[in-house]
Amino acid sequence: MSQKVFNFSAGPAALPQSILDELPSKVIDFDRGMSILEISHRSKKFKEYAQRCESTLRRILNIEDNYEVLFLQGGATHQFTMIPQNLSNNGKADYLITGGWSKKAAAYAKHHINVNIVSDSSENNFTNISEMSTWNVNTDSDYFFYCANETVHGVEIHEYLDVNTPLICDMSSTLCTRPIEVNNFDLIFAGAQKNLGIAGLTIVLARKDFIENKAKHLTPIMRYDAHANDNSMLNTSPVFAWFVAGLVFEWIEKQGGLKKMADSNKAKSQLLYDYIDQSSLYQNPVNSKYRSWVNIPFTLSVNNLDDEFLTMANKSGLYNLKGHRTVGGMRASVYNSMPIEGVERLISFMRKFESRQ
Ligand SMILES: Cc1ncc(COP(=O)(O)O)c(C=O)c1O
Repeated sequence: MSQKVFNFSAGPAALPQSILDELPSKVIDFDRGMSILEISHRSKKFKEYAQRCESTLRRILNIEDNYEVLFLQGGATHQFTMIPQNLSNNGKADYLITGGWSKKAAAYAKHHINVNIVSDSSENNFTNISEMSTWNVNTDSDYFFYCANETVHGVEIHEYLDVNTPLICDMSSTLCTRPIEVNNFDLIFAGAQKNLGIAGLTIVLARKDFIENKAKHLTPIMRYDAHANDNSMLNTSPVFAWFVAGLVFEWIEKQGGLKKMADSNKAKSQLLYDYIDQSSLYQNPVNSKYRSWVNIPFTLSVNNLDDEFLTMANKSGLYNLKGHRTVGGMRASVYNSMPIEGVERLISFMRKFESRQ
């Protein structure tokens, strides 16, 4: 039998193997012999499924009733526009720039409002974050935006931020990788294609009184409260992506919940960082305090070896290790569904490759 392959893509990312194994039969017969691919989001069966899916997510994340759970489209990028349009009463907000995604979010927001950059780590190529005491925080901003885990640069903020304005967080690559206190945030969003399933769905958790009756000049499709009032079914919903997210939430619960995910993600990433740090060929430049548990970029200290590394990794069944096009080098993404054996196989390959140099 051919050896198992491991997909280290940052997103769309690997799904749990047990979900993939069961998916074909579940897809074919979702409702009395009809496939999920041909079902209406307004069918009784799908509405029941959507409710179950929300309840499971509420249980695993401990989401209280004063929060809406929205299942939206448009990717996380769409949130970069919805947020300033909906949630900025006075037209000004604070943005913390710690990597490519928060930088993009701030650039999008500038189309709509005045953006105050609290701190910008581009000056150190997104390898560190300045001390909070040095940040240029406004006390009268409508909200404070940051990205908890920068997927491209592998920079993660592991502690809660204590700010005096409503807190909004892009958790696209970190939601459900560990337990969080949802109550510490006013709005959290995450594209599904990393830890929550496949592309086409964006999860938004929002404090009800933060999104209610805001931005009445916008059309309903652009308004959080309109989506909430219609149970995220304002228009034709991406039922398949929603379906897969439900399977992923149930898988997380079956594995033992977010504490289990956290222990595993921490252990997997530590294993890889420890190996990289003792190696003379590989480097990860991020300050250890901010290293990501799930996206691990690394470079090779010898010039012109990247292509050979990637070709040989592919031959060994280790896929999608090429770093983001804006950064270069390599990146191993080890989300919830990456088993520890995947990381062990990668390290063993890296060791062999290094010993040949
Ligand atoms: C942290 C973060 N924010 C936003 C995005 C953009 O997501 P989408 O492509 O779903 O719009 C990504 C995509 O990789 C991401 O990793």
